[in-house]
Amino acid sequence: MRFIVWVMPTRDTSHGPHHSRSTGDPSARGDDIGRHLNSLDELRAAVDACKRCDLWRHATQGVPGEGPRKADVMLVGEQPGDQEDLAGHPFVGPAGAILDRALHEAGIVRKDVFVSNAVKHFKFEPRGKRRLHVKPNVEEIEACRWWLAEELKFVQPKIVIALGATAARSLLGHTVTVSAMRGLPTPFLDSTHLWVTVHPSYLLRIPDHSAQRAEYARFVQDLEGAAHWLKRKSKSK
Ligand code: URA
Repeated sequence: MRFIVWVMPTRDTSHGPHHSRSTGDPSARGDDIGRHLNSLDELRAAVDACKRCDLWRHATQGVPGEGPRKADVMLVGEQPGDQEDLAGHPFVGPAGAILDRALHEAGIVRKDVFVSNAVKHFKFEPRGKRRLHVKPNVEEIEACRWWLAEELKFVQPKIVIALGATAARSLLGHTVTVSAMRGLPTPFLDSTHLWVTVHPSYLLRIPDHSAQRAEYARFVQDLEGAAHWLKRKSKSK
């Protein structure tokens, strides 16, 4: 069995060049590290004001996690996409549609799940009228980890499902490969286990239909595996 230690992001975390413009006053850069947040509503406002990296400059708004105040299952994606950025809600675009379908097929009710992202602002490159998704870099993931830690404290999930390598990187504090961790519960935090699977956007990018169907089925299996594990665990208590 593998044991994972959550490395809590601290105020001293280096954020690279993004913070060189900072005045050193945390409130001036929307930096809530160390601040006590009383609720997920407070967190929502604080995420929107966050300037810990440069992504806030071009994004419409910060998109925090959403769902029940306490939830057995928390899903963590990469970052809001174009539609999420405009709507202010996670996983409401094309990746969200696949995720919803897969959750349903796995017998997981989305409204019972807390859905979040490793990075809270949309990173993109303008291409004509379109905004093309760009992967967040390590500094941006690190700058955002504190928010995820706060969400975990509020929600206290029994399982966290990392959707893709960026989510796993953020949760674990170091790079992992999805294939190495996929399908196995990993002890993570006091009473939480981590599951790692692929990101639903990955499924959208597979050009071959039969390969796409097979990968989608595997994704559903991963979610089912996590749900069954949780049921067994709850029954055995
Ligand atoms: N992709 C993500 O990782 N998160 C979203 O909220 C939407 C797309």
